[in-house]
Amino acid sequence: MTKRLTIAIDGPAGSGKSSVARLVAERLGYLYLDSGAMYRALALKALRNNGGALDSEARLEELARATDIELRPVPSSLQDPTIHNRVLLDGEDVTHSIRTNEVAQAASRVATIAGVREVLVAAQQRAGSTGGVVMEGRDIGSVVFPRAELKIFLEATPEVRAERRWKEHSEKGEKVGLAEVMEEVRERDKRDTERIVSPLLRAPEAVLVDNTAMNVEETARLIIMLAREREKEPRNRQGGAPS
Ligand code: CDP
Ligand code: CDP
Repeated sequence: MTKRLTIAIDGPAGSGKSSVARLVAERLGYLYLDSGAMYRALALKALRNNGGALDSEARLEELARATDIELRPVPSSLQDPTIHNRVLLDGEDVTHSIRTNEVAQAASRVATIAGVREVLVAAQQRAGSTGGVVMEGRDIGSVVFPRAELKIFLEATPEVRAERRWKEHSEKGEKVGLAEVMEEVRERDKRDTERIVSPLLRAPEAVLVDNTAMNVEETARLIIMLAREREKEPRNRQGGAPS
């Protein structure tokens, strides 16, 4: 019998994590989990409190402990390619409202707080504890599932990543300039790689996939090929959360 793996996909904004991970999960019959959506949902809640909580580490940590965030699978028949998980914030569907630039920026600020990460990482480990999951984010291979059987680090040039994000906004009818999106992506890259707690980094055993010149389909196929090989390997690796 083949194993059901834990697959960790990490990388910077716009590297294709969500679209690729979702396709990989769908084809392998695995559960897809978008960890970034949890940081976004908490950031949305903080912004709704007049943004006040964003300036206080203690208040953000308290907010994280008092918040219930749930990720639900979206049926593949659903046509919107930008929706990857349904996201429930204290029971309210915030799937669409977390996809703004403002929330993305706030999420990367919220994500610098150790206490916040502790709460969300524990929730992610619970959500993915069954195996047969593809989880994507910034610290999945390094912190959330350090023993994942397959770790991928997705990359693409900042220019291409910003252009992809800009196209998404344009297609949704949002008027935002390419230069603005580029600046937003650079700022977030900087904060995510330079933060002290769980910065974005490539785990040494992660396979580096630069998909600057590859589309989603090609990238997913490559990862599926690696996953099929690992599924057949004897159980010499342990997936899932650290015990
Ligand atoms: O999750 P992440 O921010 O890493 O990226 P994404 O949301 O999956 O991808 C951002 C946009 O780039 C989406 O519209 C993808 O369809 C597109 N993309 C692409 O055109 N080629 C790739 N190889 C990967 C993503
Ligand atoms: O889709 P995109 O790559 O633009 O962002 P995201 O995955 O939705 O994540 C939003 C923000 O949450 C990131 O800029 C990170 O600061 C943070 N994040 C994190 O710190 N750790 C994760 N595992 C996932 C997201």
